[in-house]
Amino acid sequence: MGSKITGFGAYLPPETLTNSRLEGLVNTNDEWIVQRTGIRERRIARGEGTAALAAKAARRALADAGRSPGELDLIIAATVTPDCFTPSAACLVQAELGAVNAAAFDLSAACSGFVYALDTADSFIRSGKFRTVLILGAETLSRIIDYTDRSTCILFGDGAGAAVVEASEENGVLSTYLWADGASGHVLRAQALPQDENPFGTRAPREISDRAVSMAGGEVLRFSLSEAPKAMDEALRRAGLTIADIDWVVPHQANKRIISGIIRRYHLPEDKVYMNIDRFGNTSSATIPICLAEMREHGLLASGQRLLLVGFGGGLTAASAVIAL
Ligand code: COA
Repeated sequence: MGSKITGFGAYLPPETLTNSRLEGLVNTNDEWIVQRTGIRERRIARGEGTAALAAKAARRALADAGRSPGELDLIIAATVTPDCFTPSAACLVQAELGAVNAAAFDLSAACSGFVYALDTADSFIRSGKFRTVLILGAETLSRIIDYTDRSTCILFGDGAGAAVVEASEENGVLSTYLWADGASGHVLRAQALPQDENPFGTRAPREISDRAVSMAGGEVLRFSLSEAPKAMDEALRRAGLTIADIDWVVPHQANKRIISGIIRRYHLPEDKVYMNIDRFGNTSSATIPICLAEMREHGLLASGQRLLLVGFGGGLTAASAVIAL
């Protein structure tokens, strides 16, 4: 018994944060942002939390798969911006959907989160424990961004993507690879709860900048340029395939320069690599499922195709998978 992805869905909040709007907030300009990142605009959630975005993406994925919420056995939400520590984002989505037969939990692996969730779903299904799993990548990163920090606020946006993974006689997850380098985690960081801030602690309450994303951009760039291809090579090796057997590469949308590095490294034609970073920026765990849902919507996906997914970022983490549709 294997597993197969049977449905994709995405939801992007309607409000657009353009480069020119950012010019009003920090000392930056459209030309710099486009040249260094490829990003022109991102979406910002207003009045909607991570679970609300995720539930909308989930409904679309369920419709695409022809499944009802009651058929779900498990919901896994990959997110670094849950609305609460408890209930989890997955539990909030379960309640919103009325998926009364599902177990639910969150998974924290930042920009590699969706591929970690896919591997987890595939493993549960192969073990025989669950048959129908909803996986989500959903973020409201705007809540942990310091909009006075020009080195981070230009990159990130909000959004959600979802996929339905089902038990199948045909094997749809050909290989996966998960990796982490926690010792380098400090180069991309966002604090969850303040440390030592209770009546017994030593610190005074701190400002937003203490829990906002902080990043050593150059180091994250170097990590991504070296680890993304390693992860891709490993997923291909485990699947017994080469890059020539792949119809689409769907990379995490972190920076167009990283994606261009991947294109050069594998001598790929640009139309084999899906990109939407110009419109949505970096939505962390949500970028890959948002790409997949857009590709489905635009008729780019067909039965029999093989896709190579690669995520990399906070943790630091990297993860890859070869899937067959
Ligand atoms: N607008 C204008 N100038 C800016 C700027 C902005 N938004 N942000 C930084 N700068 C300035 C810097 O202050 C620096 O000026 P200086 O030379 O006078 O000191 C100059 O631009 C170059 O900065 P640097 O940080 O070296 O640029 P870079 O080429 O490394 O690009 C990032 C910065 C953040 C775009 C790049 O490092 C990156 O994309 N890193 C990976 C980030 C990422 O993917 N994170 C998520 C991982 S999932």
